[in-house]
Amino acid sequence: MSTDPLVVFTPSGKRGRFPVGTPILTAARQLGVDLDSVCGGRGICSKCQITPSYGEFPKHGVTVAQDALSEWNKVEQRYKDKRGLIDGRRLGCQAAVLGDVVIDVPPESQVHKQVVRKAATARNIIMDPATHLYFVQVDEPDMHSPTGDLERLERALKDQWEITGLRADPPILRKLQTVLRKGNWQVTVAVHRGHQDAHSRIIDVWPGLHEGGVYGLAIDLGSTTIAAHLCDLQDGSVKASSGIMNPQIRYGEDLMSRVSYSMMNPGGDQEMTRAVREALNTLVETIAAEADIDPKLILEAVFVCNPVMHHLLLGIDPVELGQAPFALATSESMSLDARDLDLTKMNAAGRVYLLPCIAGHVGADAAAVALSEEPNKSEDLVLIVDVGTNAEILLGNKTRVLACSSPTGPAFEGAQISSGQRAAPGAIERIEINPDTKEPRFRVIGCDLWSDDAGFDEATAQTGITGICGSGIIEAVAEMRLAGLLDPSGLIGSAEQTGTDRCFPEGRTNAYLIHDATADGGPRITVTQGDIRAIQLAKSALYAGARLLMDEMGVETVDRVVLAGAFGAHISTKHAMVLGMIPDAPLNKVSSAGNAAGTGARIALCNKASRQEIEKTVRNITKVETAIEPKFQEHFVAANAIPHANASFPELAKVVSLPSVSFNTAGGDSDTGGRRRRRRK
Ligand code: FES
Repeated sequence: MSTDPLVVFTPSGKRGRFPVGTPILTAARQLGVDLDSVCGGRGICSKCQITPSYGEFPKHGVTVAQDALSEWNKVEQRYKDKRGLIDGRRLGCQAAVLGDVVIDVPPESQVHKQVVRKAATARNIIMDPATHLYFVQVDEPDMHSPTGDLERLERALKDQWEITGLRADPPILRKLQTVLRKGNWQVTVAVHRGHQDAHSRIIDVWPGLHEGGVYGLAIDLGSTTIAAHLCDLQDGSVKASSGIMNPQIRYGEDLMSRVSYSMMNPGGDQEMTRAVREALNTLVETIAAEADIDPKLILEAVFVCNPVMHHLLLGIDPVELGQAPFALATSESMSLDARDLDLTKMNAAGRVYLLPCIAGHVGADAAAVALSEEPNKSEDLVLIVDVGTNAEILLGNKTRVLACSSPTGPAFEGAQISSGQRAAPGAIERIEINPDTKEPRFRVIGCDLWSDDAGFDEATAQTGITGICGSGIIEAVAEMRLAGLLDPSGLIGSAEQTGTDRCFPEGRTNAYLIHDATADGGPRITVTQGDIRAIQLAKSALYAGARLLMDEMGVETVDRVVLAGAFGAHISTKHAMVLGMIPDAPLNKVSSAGNAAGTGARIALCNKASRQEIEKTVRNITKVETAIEPKFQEHFVAANAIPHANASFPELAKVVSLPSVSFNTAGGDSDTGGRRRRRRK
């Protein structure tokens, strides 16, 4: 048996014997221990920090003497003086093995560190991005063996990091010579290799050791909003999150009107492509400014979007998506250069990945939800609804997953609502209506107090009370139903019928007053009959989509429900069920998952293996097309009632009682939501 010293790494438990003098970084590499390094052991990047432990370790069967590692050296001292190093830490590339030793690799020194997501139910992301940084020493040019700078850089990457088969595009070549000389032949190279790539690519190169970080964008390109997370590609942390309106709204609020715009106006698709690409460039600049970084340090972007947005982003006319059989130009994932999409504000050689679409109207956003929520790994039957202008709905478990997309329209996002607004400070997000007095109390974004708490007026003086956001309108409608202000068909009662002056006539229908700030020049916030209709249309589409998948699966109930979407985390599950947005389920089995599509994009950005995984998963998801399914219309009409005309809600009945009121008197509203024309949004 070898008498070489034994090195035990924690937390991995990997162990091996190494000759005296072996640097810890080398031992870690040989054992496949996850220990980071950008500078290749030159003692300048500090990524390789480790903590040696001394004393008795019966668990590992070793005793570690004080001199188990080589002495603290000048390189470490220099680093500590300049940058600081926690006491007890060593640089793994400098400390060498002299005797048996136990080495702990702290989380920040692990290449594949886990990024813990905030939500309790969330899965963690293992860092394994497609882009990595490498520091190299490049040979200087020599008259006697003439080679190009790029060839010598490639040789350095091969010798020092075993990276072969490199490609470098013209933008890199244009700067390479200057950078090499400026760095005195030491440079940091960002190398990208996607999971489908046969070659690695140089994305950027910086003189010396680059310490400015490298970043990626996870973008959820929605019909109404574009939301992005700026992530550090080295540790996965989110540096900034930002969003802007999708400027294509001026061509039509919903997807089908954008498809028709393209059909009716020659070149209309190109106009919309230009608009969204410009907005994306603005978003790149805004989010980089917010994080205080150079936008050129954004080296990657991952997109999730519905099929129409997907086609318009790529510059493909979406006309085929306007008619059955809804053929996509491609449903495969795509890897492209940022410049192919005119994303000129991020790095010139940056790379873009688009998740695969499922089929028809079920897009990459639904795929991203599947990646984030993993219904395909669930033991019980889970219904996931991602609420947006289109709802992505998934139903399944380990054996089978079904998906559809349902045209809910923008009402859940506060659009098309008379007092609606985006979720921003001043917007009402929670509301309660006293069933006896019919008086409301509410909370606004940016203030923790309720409107009837002392100090509320002072606390909201700055923001004001400006409107109702998506989660607020859901609560308002559900509370109106619970307080007997709204009957099951969705009609608002008059002052006489409800016994409150807060219900007042508006045209031939009634409205309910939540807050009147007109005396101070503020808005009058009401819920009108039109608002109720918009919410009924949206929730019926959502419920009908879910119900269609349940029919297809042959089930009457689901084990649990996950509400996702930009405001999924804020939806009150009880109110969602009073409204009949989702099928009946025990309330403790209904949870919120926040922006699951955005999280899916983040996972794909930070972990390249997940790209392969979702491409495989998507092939096994069965798409159900709502637009041509006659049952959808049937479910839609029945779902118009609040909570539902046919379905019973026994679980809901355990927690609330719904008053049986009817306001459908002669001369009442004749425009029932069920008879309205439904359009795919
Ligand atoms: S590997 Fe860079 S400092 Fe040790």
